[in-house]
Amino acid sequence: MFHATERLPHLLPPSAYGSDDSYSWEVSNVFAKSWHFVGLQTDLSRPGDFLTVEICGQPIQVRNIGGNIHAVSNVCAHRHCLLTSERKGSSPKLRCQYHGWEYDASGATQRIPLAQNFAPLDRASLRIPVYRVETLGPLVFVNLDAIAPDLRTAAGDQLEPLLHGFGEGWEVVLSREFPHHVNWKIPVENTLEAYHVPAVHPETFREDPGEARSEHFLGETGSSFQTTLPFAPHSRIDAWFQRIEGRALHLLTDRAPTSAYRQHHLFPNILFSLTDMVSLLHVVRPTGSQTCTSVIYQFGRVGKSFVSRQCSRLWGRLVAGITLKILQEDFRLYTAIQRGLNSSHNPGMLGRCEERIYEFQRWLQNQSQQTTAEASCSTISDVRTAVACDCSPINPPCHLATSSIDL
Ligand code: FES
Ligand SMILES: [Fe+2]
Repeated sequence: MFHATERLPHLLPPSAYGSDDSYSWEVSNVFAKSWHFVGLQTDLSRPGDFLTVEICGQPIQVRNIGGNIHAVSNVCAHRHCLLTSERKGSSPKLRCQYHGWEYDASGATQRIPLAQNFAPLDRASLRIPVYRVETLGPLVFVNLDAIAPDLRTAAGDQLEPLLHGFGEGWEVVLSREFPHHVNWKIPVENTLEAYHVPAVHPETFREDPGEARSEHFLGETGSSFQTTLPFAPHSRIDAWFQRIEGRALHLLTDRAPTSAYRQHHLFPNILFSLTDMVSLLHVVRPTGSQTCTSVIYQFGRVGKSFVSRQCSRLWGRLVAGITLKILQEDFRLYTAIQRGLNSSHNPGMLGRCEERIYEFQRWLQNQSQQTTAEASCSTISDVRTAVACDCSPINPPCHLATSSIDL
């Protein structure tokens, strides 16, 4: 069932999906304080293992130093070269690729070749920044903000499903990155509703499960959707998937299938879906006002015996093929959505079935330090009274907001 009783305003104006001002606002007010998924612990299992990532335009190196995972700036204090240009790898020292300056886990300089050239040297002030790192199961997260809430607090009501879907007994069966030439909110919002299913996934899911078979949970840190598989009884792939998955689950774990499909959103950009046998993580990494990357990791259950492990991997590969097909069906639409947003003459609107998008947009607007009329609109039932009148780039101009609530 849905919570909203009437259609909802599209709180964000089209310009929020592509203007440089909006993106700068989001970087400062949202992403600079968020926990960013950066990779898996298995990629950092041995001392010297590292991976690099860019967060809010900052090059970061996440590295196993002495058995612990650390995050440091990937920019050298000498003459600003990236310490490494590799996406991932292993090297004995945290060393710059240009002149060989070395650093420790605190960001302090260690060996400097021909250090006498740099005398007098104030090593205490000559550091590269270090950042906070936390893990949830196999997932590694970094936060650029020294005083942001810890990861578990930030995950809030999405913590338990994250731990359930990505904890013990799961292994990666698919990892891919897909760059998009669209604003990061387009992939996020696309994932928050099943209304597009009949038009976009006619072969795979076929039908929207509809209100009677949908359960929405709207929380402080995210939202969730639950239904039972198959989405539509006559969908070709979905019904087949559900039948086989039930048998595979029994074979691998002796558990009875629940047939549940749960899709979760941890604000702002972490999406994950869970079935009995498959956990799919989809992080939409913003890279610019109209560019982002979908980072996809699919996990499958680990079998207990050699035979069940092989069966599990085979099943994982089969499901990965379906996942990629469904993702591509969505990806094909993204540029058309961005093109329309860049030229739209309307504020847009949200149906009751799209209430999770409304919750996301409301959360995003409430990240503003300014007092807004939306900030006082705490529930969906309050929405009819919401009037935007603040000037931050993600709030619509007043004339758009007024028309968007003219229900
Ligand atoms: S720029 Fe890094 S050692 Fe020179
Ligand atoms: Fe879709």
